[in-house]
Amino acid sequence: MRKIAKTFTLATLAMLMVTACTSVAADRDTVDSDLAYCDSQLRRTLAELADSTGVIDYTLSPRNILAGEQHWNLRRVDKTEWCGGFFPGTLWYDYEATADTAILSQARRFTQPLAFLAQTPAYDHDLGFLVIISFLNGYRLTADEEYKHVLLACADTLATLFNPRAGTILSWPRHVADYGGHNTIMDNMINLELLFWAAENGGSDSLRQIAMSHADTTMTYHFHDDGVGYHVAVYDSLDGHFIRGCTHQGLGDTTMWARGQAWAIYGYTMCYRYTHEQRYLDFAQKVTDAYLKQLPADGVPFWDFNDPRIATTALTELTPSDSVAPRDASAACVVASALFELAGYVAPDKAKEYLRVANLTLETLRQPEWRGGDLCPAFLLHSTGHHPAGSEINASMSYADYYYIEALIRARKAS
Ligand code: GLY
Repeated sequence: MRKIAKTFTLATLAMLMVTACTSVAADRDTVDSDLAYCDSQLRRTLAELADSTGVIDYTLSPRNILAGEQHWNLRRVDKTEWCGGFFPGTLWYDYEATADTAILSQARRFTQPLAFLAQTPAYDHDLGFLVIISFLNGYRLTADEEYKHVLLACADTLATLFNPRAGTILSWPRHVADYGGHNTIMDNMINLELLFWAAENGGSDSLRQIAMSHADTTMTYHFHDDGVGYHVAVYDSLDGHFIRGCTHQGLGDTTMWARGQAWAIYGYTMCYRYTHEQRYLDFAQKVTDAYLKQLPADGVPFWDFNDPRIATTALTELTPSDSVAPRDASAACVVASALFELAGYVAPDKAKEYLRVANLTLETLRQPEWRGGDLCPAFLLHSTGHHPAGSEINASMSYADYYYIEALIRARKAS
């Protein structure tokens, strides 16, 4: 059943081939209809999360729906669960789209269990993901001072992971011995927003200095000359020198892991938003162009651009196997969202190209083959979590849905 629903029609493929070559900006009604789809899926999730008496355990957050499953797998919110902010964040965006106070109430309730992070020593860099997605969206939409308090406290906590000799934040304290030093992963670029925001909202200016040091050091060591990034950079913990680049979730140390590159695109775009430093804008374009150069025609990357199976995998084959490379809708959503922002900062020709790809990506993800639809309450199917570990392959992921609805909100503003 699921397999049948995922099969592309030739008409769909033909549409994609045409739209790949032309401008595909969706009209306002189409984007509104996508947002209405998200809202109805989200309400389905909320209904499924309630027990027979209508009570929801807000300390459990949807994380994934694995291939062939129909319901969200939940994880208890704690400092080790990096995805805990995405469901509240998705609710915040749905509230922004609908202005429905029932959704606002759910967003608040799913955000609150993360407040303990304001009094908890840093576990790892994902603290940024956890609170930017939940509390920062909440603060943006409600100006609740309690949210601001949590964000400022967490920014100070995140800063405790900064190593001034290396010039970056330590991503995984628990893996220092495994990697032979201070490890920094590309994903960490996203967390810099917490520091930039805090410095502008009553926190110390040193938080901004830390964020810029991290962004500059990453720019220097974490990429090959062609703008493709490593997943992990290892620095000497004592003198800070760069030791090596390697991977954790990609195919190989020097391959382009799609979501890692997506974090870089989103991260440097965000750095420019907060600093207006030209070097970040230039670099955002460099890492974006490296990604776009190899992006499949429908706008959704394979999980790693160097998977040798790509050569023999048709874009119509969405069910991975030993011979079919999996796709990663989550990376596509992170990039589409970033491109809507980046397009606002660059020269007109570049902006046109970035908007074309962002809109094309949304056009692809609008097709039934990519949607949870009747199969499951997630917005999207076909993300890849951790391919080398064999986990969350061809799955629905809470972060794919989050960046999808963010991209739609940005598309609506651009329409
Ligand atoms: N931050 C982990 C991931 O992107 O999978």
